[in-house]
Amino acid sequence: MKTVNVALLGFGIVGRGTYEAISKGSKLIEKRYGVKVKVKKILEINDAIIKASGLPGKLFTPDYNEILNDDSIQIVAEMMGGRQPATSFMLAALNAGKNVVSSNKMALAESLPKLKAAAKKNNVKLYYEASVCGAIPVITSIRDSLGVNGFREIRGIVNGTSNFILTHMIEGDMAYSDALALAQKLGFAEKDPTDDVEGIDSANKLSLLTELCTGIYVAPSEIKRTGITGITLKKLAQAKAEGKKIKLVATARATKDGVKLSVKPELVSPDDLLYNVDYVFNGIILSCEYADDIFLYGRGAGSLPTGSAVAGDIINIAKEI
Ligand code: HSE
Repeated sequence: MKTVNVALLGFGIVGRGTYEAISKGSKLIEKRYGVKVKVKKILEINDAIIKASGLPGKLFTPDYNEILNDDSIQIVAEMMGGRQPATSFMLAALNAGKNVVSSNKMALAESLPKLKAAAKKNNVKLYYEASVCGAIPVITSIRDSLGVNGFREIRGIVNGTSNFILTHMIEGDMAYSDALALAQKLGFAEKDPTDDVEGIDSANKLSLLTELCTGIYVAPSEIKRTGITGITLKKLAQAKAEGKKIKLVATARATKDGVKLSVKPELVSPDDLLYNVDYVFNGIILSCEYADDIFLYGRGAGSLPTGSAVAGDIINIAKEI
């Protein structure tokens, strides 16, 4: 059976989830796809993380060149988060002829044209299912299954942390800061949670989805956004009294004047599919030309759910190698 070697960049929440999903799922991967996926190296500089992993020390390296110069590594999975060095590392891997998988919506959304051009030039894959809506296969659905469709609208709750906070505030009578602290403790929040609560993370994801659906790249900085920091318990209670909920909604709508993008808190009624998307869950409605409306729902963050999506991309590439 063929073996495909993979390097993981970063062994934080997502890196650990990916490693666990690949290790525990190895027999299933072999049986289903006839391929062995082997994690050959992990880039990690934090000694405490390495020690806590309980994995052999030789699996880790602090030196990215060791991965870049290893011709037996065909897939690099970047899960470091943040802008740099993640973007440079992805570009270097693509230019070294390696396939790249990433969960890093910020780095992807900000540099997508450059990254895609490098993948094309080097004839390798750049997959990023885990970067949008955690475990939900929204990217694969748009890219593959719905490939014949144009899109009228995409509208969804794509940030688990802000949804978690809003739900806890109104359902659990929790203070904003306590709900945020809990999201951070559970590993849902970004390195800087401002990105979650100010709608920046949602804008990154919306930029990626829009490019997939329309071929038009809109930089996240150009997307009009409002976060949830102005949402008080009073406003949430008012909405509840009217039988509604306040949700942070990301929308891309095709209009005769082009695609209109926004991220903002909205009043959502019970007849809206997004109404029951609570806590860390994400939900997204794709309004398609032929398939009509499709609603995707699942865990938008977390170690194993996101790791599952990274592993899925790795498998998709590995089985074609
Ligand atoms: N901080 C992100 C969220 C993680 O809460 O949705 C998953 O992208």
